[in-house]
Amino acid sequence: MTEELYPAPLDLDAAWSADTVTVQAGRPARVPGAPMNPPMTLSSTYVHDANVEYGRDGNLAWGALEAALGALDGGHAVTFASGLAATTGIASLVPSGGTVVLSSVTYHGVRHIFDGMAADGRVQLRIVAPDDTGAVVAASEGAAMVWVESIANPLLVVADVPAIAAGARANGAITVVDATFATPLRQRPLQQGADVVMHAATKLIGGHSDLLLGAAVCRDAKHAAALAAHRHDHGAIPGALESFLALRGLRTLAVRLDRAESSAAELARRLSSHPNVAVVHYPGLAGDPEHERATRVLDGGFGSMVSLEVAGTVEQTDAFLSRLRLVTHATSLGGVESLIERRARYPGDAAIVGPTLCRLSVGIENVEDLWADLDRALRAAFG
Ligand SMILES: Cc1ncc(COP(=O)(O)O)c(C=O)c1O
Repeated sequence: MTEELYPAPLDLDAAWSADTVTVQAGRPARVPGAPMNPPMTLSSTYVHDANVEYGRDGNLAWGALEAALGALDGGHAVTFASGLAATTGIASLVPSGGTVVLSSVTYHGVRHIFDGMAADGRVQLRIVAPDDTGAVVAASEGAAMVWVESIANPLLVVADVPAIAAGARANGAITVVDATFATPLRQRPLQQGADVVMHAATKLIGGHSDLLLGAAVCRDAKHAAALAAHRHDHGAIPGALESFLALRGLRTLAVRLDRAESSAAELARRLSSHPNVAVVHYPGLAGDPEHERATRVLDGGFGSMVSLEVAGTVEQTDAFLSRLRLVTHATSLGGVESLIERRARYPGDAAIVGPTLCRLSVGIENVEDLWADLDRALRAAFG
């Protein structure tokens, strides 16, 4: 939405595949002397001008990142200070008193925002199971917005976005898809009928656990304009440095995701037959309840997140986490380094997951090193 600030961007070839677009989109036009990377301005104010006067109006680095994310998802991108700032902006699209259909398996921070709005009487909430497509669509009758995650945090439930978006549209509701776990390389929800895609670029897009940033990519330019105005007026702007780093992270998303995903699939397979693991949730496993939907809805892979339920007590689970030496016991996900945490320690997640469920974000380390660490720590915890 800061096109007016952004020097002519590089023309993209419509035939390029998404992984090529991640490398090329958002670069300055290829003219003699042009830099390879977009400029980044560290300035809170500008010499008086009609388009930009102040840091909240726009930034060259946002423009480049938004051009890239917009090209990937096929919509109008607006970036925010974090995934939750983007969520707050998107939630403002619901008219006062309007109804939001919210998936019961949703990042607890997103749930917290909508619960707070409902408690204030700002919106009405209908909570539905994301794997019950018929129930989601039925709940969208008379609603303003349907919010689903695909792939959902932390149980890795995969919503049937094409069917939900079509049903919600027929009922007059817009569909928002938090595609943080899927990334634009595994799912393009706007092409599947959704109206807004949310990315916590803090995660896989940034990819290095060194920034927070969120993005909303809208089918309708009017929604994007409303979100840009919300960002301006409420101040949840992304930093210039974070925007620059997120775009740099995006350049390597395809290779990082391919590697992390193939390790995730292998680890999920091995963990499934581990004596100290009760259940593995991974939509890529043939026996996983999400597998059929995931095969239809996702494109080219099943993501780099694996959730495992340890076959023991909470104390044994915590002992497993404390014995890991390579995988770090920490929150967050999507970085080059593998992270794991027990999700029921969050009250919001305790309501929907078992006490020993651990969410593993698989990084790009050697898969045999990861396996050796997980296997050794599991056996030691039960030793
Ligand atoms: C699926 C999902 N959506 C949104 C967010 C919020 O993103 P941020 O931490 O950048 O606010 C998270 C954070 O973990 C997440 O996992």
